[in-house]
Amino acid sequence: MLSGMGNLNPDAAKMSDGKSRISLKDLTALLRFTGTSKISIVLLILAAIFSGGLQVVAPAFLGATIDNMGETGNVDLTYLGIHAGILLGMYLMAALFTWVVSYFANVVAAKTALEVRRALSAKLVRLPVSFYDTHPQGDTATHFINDADAISEGMLQGLLNFFTVMVTILGTVGFMIYISWKMTLIILPMAVLMIWSATTIAKKTTKYFKSQQNLVGSISGDVEENLYGRKEIKAFGCEEKFLGSFREKNEQLNKSSVTAQFASSLPNPVTRFVDSTTYILIGALGVWFGGLSVGNITTFILYWKNFSKPINDLTNITTQVMAAFASLSRVFAILDLPEESEDTETAGSGNGKEGEVLFEHVTFGYTKDKKIFDDFSLRVEPGQKVAIIGPTGCGKTTLMNLLMRFYEPDSGRILIDGQDIREISRADLRRRFGMVLQETWLLERSIRDNIAYGRPEATDEEVIAAAKAARAHGFIKRLPDGYDTVPGKDISLSEGQKQLLCIARVLLMDPDLLILDEATSAVDTLTEKRIVEAFDNMTKGRTGFIIAHRLSTIAGADQVIKLGQAKKDKP
Ligand SMILES: Nc1ncnc2c1ncn2[C@@H]1O[C@H](COP(=O)(O)OP(=O)(O)O)[C@@H](O)[C@H]1O
Ligand SMILES: [Mg+2]
Repeated sequence: MLSGMGNLNPDAAKMSDGKSRISLKDLTALLRFTGTSKISIVLLILAAIFSGGLQVVAPAFLGATIDNMGETGNVDLTYLGIHAGILLGMYLMAALFTWVVSYFANVVAAKTALEVRRALSAKLVRLPVSFYDTHPQGDTATHFINDADAISEGMLQGLLNFFTVMVTILGTVGFMIYISWKMTLIILPMAVLMIWSATTIAKKTTKYFKSQQNLVGSISGDVEENLYGRKEIKAFGCEEKFLGSFREKNEQLNKSSVTAQFASSLPNPVTRFVDSTTYILIGALGVWFGGLSVGNITTFILYWKNFSKPINDLTNITTQVMAAFASLSRVFAILDLPEESEDTETAGSGNGKEGEVLFEHVTFGYTKDKKIFDDFSLRVEPGQKVAIIGPTGCGKTTLMNLLMRFYEPDSGRILIDGQDIREISRADLRRRFGMVLQETWLLERSIRDNIAYGRPEATDEEVIAAAKAARAHGFIKRLPDGYDTVPGKDISLSEGQKQLLCIARVLLMDPDLLILDEATSAVDTLTEKRIVEAFDNMTKGRTGFIIAHRLSTIAGADQVIKLGQAKKDKP
């Protein structure tokens, strides 16, 4: 689908080719999201039973009224008035119950959308870093926005119609058989024909809707990529290339949208034709073959309406229901992805504050066929400053990924203060580290909030102290609103300034071990000097890893590890 999807694990690959039919499993899975609104569903079903039941009883009552009128010969106005009143009452009640169904359907649908978004956001937090390394961000975002909406909309339409239709159809069939089984034998095949034509086309439609939604996801991913990389795209003069790929996908989307919409509009004319034919059949055969009275013919005509209208409705809403299930299977594909493995039973908080790090015979590769590390060992004494150098792609960042347990070694182990990091809970392990990366990450909130991100309860004094240690206090004070300035909104900061804020943020967390991954690569030499000063400040008495290209950055390191070009084990 998109670049980067190539190295997905097989579980994640399910995402793009989920099932395209509604199964009982899907329906029960959907119940996961209705959560606390189960009472609403029960009330909805009750209201649907009443509303559907009245749709069945009213025509029979009308038929009986007409027949009784015929028997009396002359029109009895009191009789007519009373019966018309009762009939009116029935239809009024039916309308009222329909309204109740609609109310609860809306409640449940809104709640479901909420739960889907909640489940997805909870899941996204628990997914391993490898998921984000392999999924474009925009694509993930559409799951939140479009899919939650589509599920909610489909759910709404489904709930509005399903139970009422079920009660109406079952009740109607029962009453029809009671009145004339012969006529029922004529009408049922017509109903089956109608349902068959509607559902076969609907099934086909799901496929098109799925590809439509996948394309929408892919296009959002592209647009997002373009937004992030707008400078690069312009600098490379690749606007045309982006537009070309966008145009192509847009064309595809257009085609599959048209196909999907066309396919989903097909059932309507077909069912209408069957519908009209059946009215003629009831009229023509009713008296002669079915032996129906005039009243009964009225009842049957209304009963056929009971059939045809909901079936027609159902085919009209299949569009939304199918889109909902397409979305649902995409959402489940995300929800069913493997999470970071559970922390082991013995997972402690990690003991000492020493900071000794040991890599023991570590072997690791992102994929089976390419090892990044093969039997790699390293000892870092507590408080040491270790510089890691080597060409791009040699595995410097990977080494840090392993240390933070973003990825797990294939074999060998990593120990901190003599404890295997697999025995330390991830949260505790990561809390011991402070990490500054080349890409800075600031929120559109005040500088104060940005520095205090990891410790919102920090006092102003602590924030300022951290900023001072990070050599950021000076420039912050010169900003129009000082610590209340919102970077990105009030003012645009330089890379170096952003970097110093990120360092201040880490400093405030007071971690035991520090990682600086090419944090100085994108800044000028003066800022670099400041960052290195800040880092030296931070690393006093702590273990620190510094990854850098410039030799000036790594000056004063206790140990320099040079990673070679990754060995390609298998040709
Ligand atoms: N998430 C990933 N999935 C697959 N391969 C990756 C992933 N991250 C990095 N790699 C590959 O692993 C190798 C080492 O990458 P990295 O550790 O980022 O290098 P660097 O030394 O530049 O920090 C590179 O060949 C890179 O393409
Ligand atoms: Mg790197």
